[in-house]
Amino acid sequence: MVDVAAVRLNNGVGMPQIGFGVFRVPEEETVSAVSAAIEAGYRGIDTASLYGNETAVGRAVAACGLPRTDLFITTKLWNDDQGYRSTFDAFDRSLTRLGLDHVDLYLIHWPVPAKGAYLDTWRAFEEIYASGRARAIGVSNFQPWHLQPVLDQGRVVPAVNQVELHPRFQQEEVRAFGRAHGIVTEAWSPLSRGDVLTDPVIVELSRRYGKTPAQIVLRWHVELGNVVIPKSVTPSRIRENIDIFDFALTADDLAAIRGLDRAARTGPDPDGGQKPAGYSSTGGRWVSDG
Ligand SMILES: NC(=O)c1ccc[n+]([C@@H]2O[C@H](COP(=O)([O-])OP(=O)(O)OC[C@H]3O[C@@H](n4cnc5c(N)ncnc54)[C@H](OP(=O)(O)O)[C@@H]3O)[C@@H](O)[C@H]2O)c1
Repeated sequence: MVDVAAVRLNNGVGMPQIGFGVFRVPEEETVSAVSAAIEAGYRGIDTASLYGNETAVGRAVAACGLPRTDLFITTKLWNDDQGYRSTFDAFDRSLTRLGLDHVDLYLIHWPVPAKGAYLDTWRAFEEIYASGRARAIGVSNFQPWHLQPVLDQGRVVPAVNQVELHPRFQQEEVRAFGRAHGIVTEAWSPLSRGDVLTDPVIVELSRRYGKTPAQIVLRWHVELGNVVIPKSVTPSRIRENIDIFDFALTADDLAAIRGLDRAARTGPDPDGGQKPAGYSSTGGRWVSDG
């Protein structure tokens, strides 16, 4: 079994650097997939209210026989539930489905700027955090200009920002903002849903290291300091994806992968394709010029 490195969040809580993602894993397959992941050494599980499989994640967690403190469970608040009061109800429903009395990380799934509710939602998150029912709170799919108001008006700095991130979409701006403010960047679709695995640069590195293309890409994430949450329902891939702690890429390898950035999202844009006009970075702060 692989021993996974941990990153330290801004409140001192340790988070496994590789977790197991379960987006689009049907409820009936989730128990076996999560059980296989835990067996292989994963201790972090990433689900969401949207995924419809929190109950199955909870069943796999209950059945695994590990102490709760060994596991790091993340879930997310869906967009429809944003708002101060509705957040508490949605959180209770997630805990009930998971069969847990707390989660390790609770995330706002998308900023949905048009709804204008993420700051009220964040106030509720801060209370949930203060109650101890989430050991850490964070956001997902937030750009720096969505995060800046949270930093300006909130009391708790988000511990994590989970965003689409892979060699073809490297999110330099988001990662730099996270580094500057102590927010860990967590990569969703870290394998670009498999698309990047046939890239010639990745294939060549795979040949040179005797590692699979997925292992090269996941190792790259780890060396950048990202948390990663690859998804697979294939037992051999579940094991393969976590087996990346016995080699290291060189600075030249990292530079070669740096060259693969195409600023190419595979998923939705949090601003619906348009960066809001009039926002710029001034001395590291993202402010509206208007
Ligand atoms: N916050 C958000 O908005 C958001 C959005 C999307 C995803 N996520 C999270 O991020 C997790 C991962 O993202 P993702 O599922 O979109 O994409 P991903 O992990 O980049 O890719 C998953 C795909 O790659 C395949 N795969 C996995 N390991 C492989 C390997 N070693 N070799 C070849 N193919 C491999 C899987 O196939 P098989 O399953 O058939 O093996 C699956 O088709 C999700 O499960 C979810 O937890 C969050």
